[in-house]
Amino acid sequence: MAIERTISIVKPDAVGKNVIGKIYDRFESAGLKIVAAKMKHLSRAEAEGFYAVHKERPFFNDLVNFMTSGPVMIQVLEGENAILKNRELMGATDPKKADAGTIRADFAASIDANAVHGSDSPENAAIEIAFFFASSEVYAGR
Ligand code: PPS
Repeated sequence: MAIERTISIVKPDAVGKNVIGKIYDRFESAGLKIVAAKMKHLSRAEAEGFYAVHKERPFFNDLVNFMTSGPVMIQVLEGENAILKNRELMGATDPKKADAGTIRADFAASIDANAVHGSDSPENAAIEIAFFFASSEVYAGR
């Protein structure tokens, strides 16, 4: 199985609920290593740039407003099959549809305040990691 890296973001709702540590425990318990991390209050330009792929979607403005409403915790996760594993840990985008025991089922309130983001493909993971971290800020996890 390939060792992958992926971006995870603990969104403003979950940072506000003081559950960063509980969410980190899900990653570490599943065998994913945190190999870079930073807390950041995104500017509007940063949030618009990060979510540029969604700029034509009807919820784009709400998404940017939410993601700039407070600090986020951004981390690079590394491990076997990290991209899919992180998405399984997160659960469905809409917490009402997320499986029991997933991060969104346990910590998210709604589809717009859904606790976490995770890259959805190797291509997007590489783009998203480079968006937030210089290569010198990402450490070897093994
Ligand atoms: S995905 O992963 O691209 O298939 O998910 P998608 O459902 O297309 O949603 C993309 C991101 O937009 C957020 N979202 C919303 N924000 C505000 N309001 C509404 N109605 C809404 N619907 C979806 C969703 O949380 C996804 O954010 P990220 O950070 O990518 O998980």
